[in-house]
Amino acid sequence: MDKTSKRNSFTGSLGFVLAAASSAVGLGNIWRFPYLAAKDGGGLFLVIYIILALTFGYTLLITEIATGRRTKQSPLTAYGKLHPKWKGLGIVACIVPVIILPYYCAIGGWVVKYSLVYLTMGGEQAAQDGFFNGFISGTGEPLLMTVIFLLAVAFVVYRGVNKGIETTSKILMPVLLVMVVVIAVFSLTITHTDESGATRTGLEGLGIYVIPNFDGLTVGSFFTTLLDAMGQLFFSLSVAMGIMITYGSYVNDNANLKTSINRIEIFDTLVAFLAGVMIIPAVYTFAGTEGMAASGPGLMFVTMPKVFSSMGDVGHIVGILFFVMILFAALTSAISIMEAVVSSLMDAFHISRKKSGSHRNIDNSCRSGACMSWL
Ligand code: PFF
Repeated sequence: MDKTSKRNSFTGSLGFVLAAASSAVGLGNIWRFPYLAAKDGGGLFLVIYIILALTFGYTLLITEIATGRRTKQSPLTAYGKLHPKWKGLGIVACIVPVIILPYYCAIGGWVVKYSLVYLTMGGEQAAQDGFFNGFISGTGEPLLMTVIFLLAVAFVVYRGVNKGIETTSKILMPVLLVMVVVIAVFSLTITHTDESGATRTGLEGLGIYVIPNFDGLTVGSFFTTLLDAMGQLFFSLSVAMGIMITYGSYVNDNANLKTSINRIEIFDTLVAFLAGVMIIPAVYTFAGTEGMAASGPGLMFVTMPKVFSSMGDVGHIVGILFFVMILFAALTSAISIMEAVVSSLMDAFHISRKKSGSHRNIDNSCRSGACMSWL
């Protein structure tokens, strides 16, 4: 019997939903969704995103998860099993996670660094001008942090579908949700008066985030919003990257896919929305509308530490919660990316999980001819 014929599966639909949601909830929810919503007309972006999630998002998710469940294969071999002419698609689907993994781990390393700065040093130094650029332009430290992050990801993947991925998701996802809710509620309660005497509140910031803004709306800007929402949806749901095929291949045959997919989408969209409630009111209150122009690394690693620093003592606690929460989100997404690659190697070369990390063993299995069976 070959080693892949007995495939692991999630123990139940809760395990599957949390594992898939933990892949979907990642850096994209936290550093991209709130920025796009603020830039693209607040509530208008939210409405378009939700409509796309319920239509395109749902269709893509169900297609990928059903492909995995039907074939019981990861992306590299799943398409070929559906139809021999589609084998090439499997290679493309598998290349994407290979490309994303190093990038995701590098940023994961930055999050490790900021979590440590907040946990051990109060976080004040992270708010100083030039701290972020100084850190990333070094060579040794960013690399070390990336390796620490990568080892944590590899450890979970090595532990396997149940003891690794499912257990980690079941612990980290509920904790992450509680952290996001706590920071979001706190964000809504803050008030700040700047040097010019202007007072801004978190609730005003919430208005900017959720109230649709049609000022200056043109056909062109509507299409920009539509494309932004579409791009965000693909990245956020982890679709078209082979990951949902992989997780789908671990789903029990009698699990209800429709219900599970609804839950995954609700979880992912809820966390993205709450990330906006957490970030936009805080940035607006302490940095005004100019501060809201930041996105991506600039927002997370430069603007947010300054916002926490302006909050006084409580900013230290909020900073810890914020970066540890992002660490959980980045970790579980990176786990799914690595799992798609490892699982593809296991299926294509008929090797065990342990061996899929070693070229020597791939070579050995090729020598025995096993690796040719998927070509
Ligand atoms: N969905 C994750 C996020 O929103 O950050 C990112 C992601 C995970 C993208 C896995 C792609 C992927 F294959």
